[in-house]
Amino acid sequence: METAVNSALAKTVLEKVFLETYALYFKAHSYHWNVRSSNFHSDHAFLEGQYDSLWEALDEIAERLRALDLPAPSSVPGLSALAYGTSKDSMYADLLSGHEDIIATLRLGIETLEAAWDAAGADFLVGRLAEHEKSAWMLRSSR
Ligand SMILES: [Fe+2]
Repeated sequence: METAVNSALAKTVLEKVFLETYALYFKAHSYHWNVRSSNFHSDHAFLEGQYDSLWEALDEIAERLRALDLPAPSSVPGLSALAYGTSKDSMYADLLSGHEDIIATLRLGIETLEAAWDAAGADFLVGRLAEHEKSAWMLRSSR
């Protein structure tokens, strides 16, 4: 019986989740700074909650990699967000689409890790999935 985690597979899955989470973290922080809205204070605070929880998730994903004796990512290519002056609705739609992309990545990752008997890895991703589904709901309900 296989006892060790397939670390090459876990690395591929976790690095993809990390990069998508980082890209979304950067967008949420940029929109926290740049949003213009008639409910500015609540949008500003909502976006702070978004980037805070994404930042915490990055730490957990990197530490999951380290727990498998894999290196934490050391570069993040191609970060960008919609430009200053973009409407709040477009910013929220962009964040929603980012969460939906990560949800799809996580579902595939869970299936992949479960098939490889990486129960702890799959369970970790299930936790991330629930967080992104909650954020997606909040964004859909804020437009
Ligand atoms: Fe701030």
